[in-house]
Amino acid sequence: MQPIAILAENVHAAADPILREAGFTIERHAGALEGDALRAALARATVLGIRSKTSVREAALAAGRPAAIGCFCIGTDQVDLAPASRAGIPVFNSPFSNTRSVAEMTVAEAICLARRLFEKSSLLHAGTWDKSAKDAHEVRGRTLGIVGYGHIGSQVSVLAESMGMRVVFHDIIRKLPLGNAQPRHSLDALLAESDIVTLHVPSTPSTERMIGAPQLARMKPGAALINNARGSVVDVDALAAALRSGHVSGAALDVFPQEPASRDEAFESPLRGLGNVILTPHIGGSTEEAQESIAIEVAEKLVRHWTSGSTASAVNFPEVDLPTLRAGQVRIMHVHRNVPGVLSTMHGHFARESVNINAEYLQSDPHTSYVILDVDPFEGDGIVRALAALPETVRMRLTRA
Ligand code: NAI
Repeated sequence: MQPIAILAENVHAAADPILREAGFTIERHAGALEGDALRAALARATVLGIRSKTSVREAALAAGRPAAIGCFCIGTDQVDLAPASRAGIPVFNSPFSNTRSVAEMTVAEAICLARRLFEKSSLLHAGTWDKSAKDAHEVRGRTLGIVGYGHIGSQVSVLAESMGMRVVFHDIIRKLPLGNAQPRHSLDALLAESDIVTLHVPSTPSTERMIGAPQLARMKPGAALINNARGSVVDVDALAAALRSGHVSGAALDVFPQEPASRDEAFESPLRGLGNVILTPHIGGSTEEAQESIAIEVAEKLVRHWTSGSTASAVNFPEVDLPTLRAGQVRIMHVHRNVPGVLSTMHGHFARESVNINAEYLQSDPHTSYVILDVDPFEGDGIVRALAALPETVRMRLTRA
């Protein structure tokens, strides 16, 4: 039977050729799936592709078991990951496809803040021709302080240096400095010397309001702040006060402690209406290029899982990266509860049926084990029935090369 990919929420069309080439029939839905439509999709899909608005909760998972779920986005909170894992469904996402988009926006904002472009443009929209060079700077030669030197922070580092900025960074993990960037062992040291501070840390207890009144006070007078990371990282009331006092000369924020759920809900923030403050509605990663790259990455992961059984980079599942199945071989992909003795029982069935095992791959998490066996071709369905009937079996599937 032809495998079916059900794609919701207008997943970028770049996914289609990849899935089609692997033999999938594609069904598309423009909006999010919920209720009966979601249950029907789970029951019929070989793989289900969603973005952030389709919630796949544990109750819905009872309706059916796709071979995998692809989240065509970064986050995976919209899926109940542990129940999906227990049901034998790996979930894939695209964690870094929008890294470059965020990095480019950050660099653009650094220039806009240094030149006060947003403020000049707003004044001109209001009819005021202000040609003054006061407080407008080139970024060349100025110091950019990057907090969080991960995927995005390190990209920003490279782009900023190529414009002639001096880069310092602070991370809680020791990181290889790229180019001429220099690490700083404390946030305070970074704050004290940066003309622009940009935040690229995750939302964790250690980053909760890591930029509050004391940290803003430690910034150089006239420095600017960029937060394209998470709303929880900055105390926006303290930032508004620092901007009003002039100690901080400008800010660009893409993320906020409270973000409206849709355009119908008003955005409230103490930062609204302040000069030289760029506010954007959490669009750091929202580009056509990022959407396309997400579609390609997740579609490829779904296809690899379907064709080879690979679960590499699954967010909720034991990860196994598998080679292509050798010609003439049979691959058995078996998911079972992680309890002692299952493997030896499985081996016993193969031994009794005189079926030779040529390769075996196994990964487990505390609840689930995923074992893949490449075996010689065998007659009849005795082994398949025996493995499926094991009380620990969650699911199994078989492909032949
Ligand atoms: P990453 O995980 O690659 O890098 C984060 C870095 O922060 C790591 O090197 C980590 O060691 C460091 N870090 C963690 N706690 C720290 C602390 N207390 N002090 C200093 N460094 C600390 O993450 P990535 O992909 O670079 O993303 C960074 C942030 O950007 C995340 O919060 C992510 O949610 C956000 N993001 C925002 C987007 C937007 O649309 N505005 C789009 C994509 C990501």
